[in-house]
Amino acid sequence: MTTTPISPARRDGEVRNFSPQGGTEVSSFVVMIAMIAAIGGGLFGYDTGVISGAILYIKKDFPVTAALEGLIVAAVTAGALAAALMAGVLADRGGRRITNISAGLVFATASLLCVVANSVPTLIAGRFLVGCGIGLTSVGAPMYIAEVSPARIRGTFVSLFQLAVTVGILLSYVVGAMFAPAAAWRWMLGLAAVPGLALAIGMMLMPESPRWLVKHGRREDARSVLKKINPHSDPDETLAHIEHDLAAEGQGTWGALLQPTLRPALLVGIGLAVFQQVTGINAVIYYAPQIFQAAGFTSDLIALAATTGIGVINVLATFIAIWLVDRQGRKPLLIAGVAGMVATLVVLGLAFQGGTAGTGTGSLGYVTVVCLAAYIVFFAFSLGPIVWLMISEIYPLRNRAQAMAVSTAANWGANFLVSMTFPIMTARLGSAATFLTYAGLGVLTLLFVIAKVPETKGKTLEEISKLWR
Ligand code: BGC
Repeated sequence: MTTTPISPARRDGEVRNFSPQGGTEVSSFVVMIAMIAAIGGGLFGYDTGVISGAILYIKKDFPVTAALEGLIVAAVTAGALAAALMAGVLADRGGRRITNISAGLVFATASLLCVVANSVPTLIAGRFLVGCGIGLTSVGAPMYIAEVSPARIRGTFVSLFQLAVTVGILLSYVVGAMFAPAAAWRWMLGLAAVPGLALAIGMMLMPESPRWLVKHGRREDARSVLKKINPHSDPDETLAHIEHDLAAEGQGTWGALLQPTLRPALLVGIGLAVFQQVTGINAVIYYAPQIFQAAGFTSDLIALAATTGIGVINVLATFIAIWLVDRQGRKPLLIAGVAGMVATLVVLGLAFQGGTAGTGTGSLGYVTVVCLAAYIVFFAFSLGPIVWLMISEIYPLRNRAQAMAVSTAANWGANFLVSMTFPIMTARLGSAATFLTYAGLGVLTLLFVIAKVPETKGKTLEEISKLWR
């Protein structure tokens, strides 16, 4: 392997020349790459959000038992978990590009399968396959974006993935409301085929990640991608850093995940992935109408309007992360966001405990609206985007695909657990104790972030991988 001496001054194919305005120049090619890969995030959000509206009408066409209804809803999470692990193999052997192309094709096929489903098993299979698309994209997209982005702006670019997730969730509410009068659940599920195809075709036109190319001995191909990504930097410097990093690393097998050297990184990645879920985000995203109803808003319309409001806030607050994640860093945002989530959950828990009012116009109703809105803001600039960002950047290149796959699967496992247990917990323990439990787990998250999570702002992927040696 030819290597070029490494200078600490220029790294990562990074744009070191500045625009006349004084900001960092970013090639429009990288912006396009990030935006195309992020379509997968949009599908992730849309397909997890759309079922809450669609299921009402599915039940009318296919009278199902509660258990089968649960399966139709949960099939997506099961598919996402399984495919996240498969993505670990595909992204490692086939490449990051093929993982994202496959995600698009799977989304398109699965959405069409849901459209034509004329039996419950076919519908469950379709939704399981949709989940597979989500699993592939939740590993493939953040990793691909992280590997092509210049270090200084990587946080912003990977946060575009989360922005797309939130836009997808919001769109699913809007589409659900649009097709509700016609009870057109097939349209609700089928529309995702269009962006699915757009993702597959868009990704076919995109280059492979230069880091994957180097790992697979395709130095010259990597060189030409690096030149395209950043025409102003010296690709040989970046190549030298990537090769240096690869040489210093271990086996790159699944078994290597058990090695003590990878353990600290895996602890951080899996920890963040699980904490993102067990602090209750999807209790709010999936069950917002029920929470508003429990707080006294008996009108369906108000509960639905409030839920859409939550969706809008989720999108808008993600811009805070896009703006600050490369300026302030990952850790300060995580600490501020999680602290805010804990505070709002405690207030919410205490308000439900007091049960200050029985109607939506009473104080419990208002406290619930304000707390849930604030909780979403705090999540949207911290655990939302930063978890996907950090699990795509903290692992060494050799084992990045496998380690990210395991972290993502843990995220989906925890998601499954929380969304299954929320209705049981509120029924058995009450809303107050449920929110206070999430608050307690939030305190653990905070301690974990402070004690274990490193700051990765501005560092190249190769510099981050050195943090663990
Ligand atoms: C989480 C999802 C969640 C979404 C809400 C994502 O980062 O992984 O589980 O539904 O954020 O915006």
